[in-house]
Amino acid sequence: MQNLKIIFGTKCNLNCDYCYQKHENNEISQEVLDKIIEKINKNNESYNIHLFGGEPLLYLEKIFYLLDRIDIKKHNFSISTNGTLINEFGKLEEKLGYPIQNLISNKSIGNYEKLNKNSQFRFILTKSNLEELERKLDWFLEQYGNDFSIYCNFYEEWSQDLLNRIEVIERKIHLNYPRIRVLKPLITKGTPCNCRSIIINWNGDYLKCHRDPNKVIGNIFTDEFIVSKNTECIFKDDIQNNFIRTMSNTEEMACCDYDAVFYC
Ligand SMILES: C[S@@+](CC[C@H](N)C(=O)[O-])C[C@H]1O[C@@H](n2cnc3c(N)ncnc32)[C@H](O)[C@@H]1O
Ligand code: SF4
Repeated sequence: MQNLKIIFGTKCNLNCDYCYQKHENNEISQEVLDKIIEKINKNNESYNIHLFGGEPLLYLEKIFYLLDRIDIKKHNFSISTNGTLINEFGKLEEKLGYPIQNLISNKSIGNYEKLNKNSQFRFILTKSNLEELERKLDWFLEQYGNDFSIYCNFYEEWSQDLLNRIEVIERKIHLNYPRIRVLKPLITKGTPCNCRSIIINWNGDYLKCHRDPNKVIGNIFTDEFIVSKNTECIFKDDIQNNFIRTMSNTEEMACCDYDAVFYC
């Protein structure tokens, strides 16, 4: 099954201190959606369709426009959401008729409860919330089990002392949950991934990586679906080339080991 990630726009109702995105006032147009719909409906394929933003639930009307024009039962849906727009989330689930797979992460609002039984939680680790993670780790493991992961903020430099504390957390997790991913700074700094996904930005561009709107590999109005094979680092300028070569294509670099949908 092919993965299709749609960035409906980069507006957001939160402003997480670690967020890599610029929250500009943009929104996918009906023309771009019509093209996506045409391409999805053209063949017999089923897609894993991942709803992405910004905060995708701010674009519920546009999400419904898409859902009303494709065969909902034929495709899988998932969403990355900050989990604050509960009414919109409820409406989406009602429309789909099942508990949508969802990825939530720690936000300033501090509500870490599951949205439904298919919630996964990713803790974005920063210097300022390391202590919070240490305190709440048992609770996370109890609530989420293997559906929990930790990503270190891509943009931070970590001292050896902090790295040691992360090691301790990792060892504790892996005692009982060896499958849980802990993406440590050395790895995240490069973020090469083997993501195999069609990534469509709100303006119709196909992206190599959803984190970088400038890495354009085509456009929906001129090209058929293009699958991103992102084995290269988007923060290449930050690091040495030989680091990229060493890290790419190792097991740890695989974009995601679990489920049908790749979250990177
Ligand atoms: C940009 S958000 C969009 C979806 C939604 N608003 C959310 O927060 O889940 C996509 C994912 O990127 C993660 N993210 C944002 N900035 C990050 C950073 N600096 N390092 C690691 N992950 C980051 C978020 O936690 C979230 O899981
Ligand atoms: S909720 Fe998501 S998109 Fe919004 S600021 Fe936080 S990480 Fe960024």
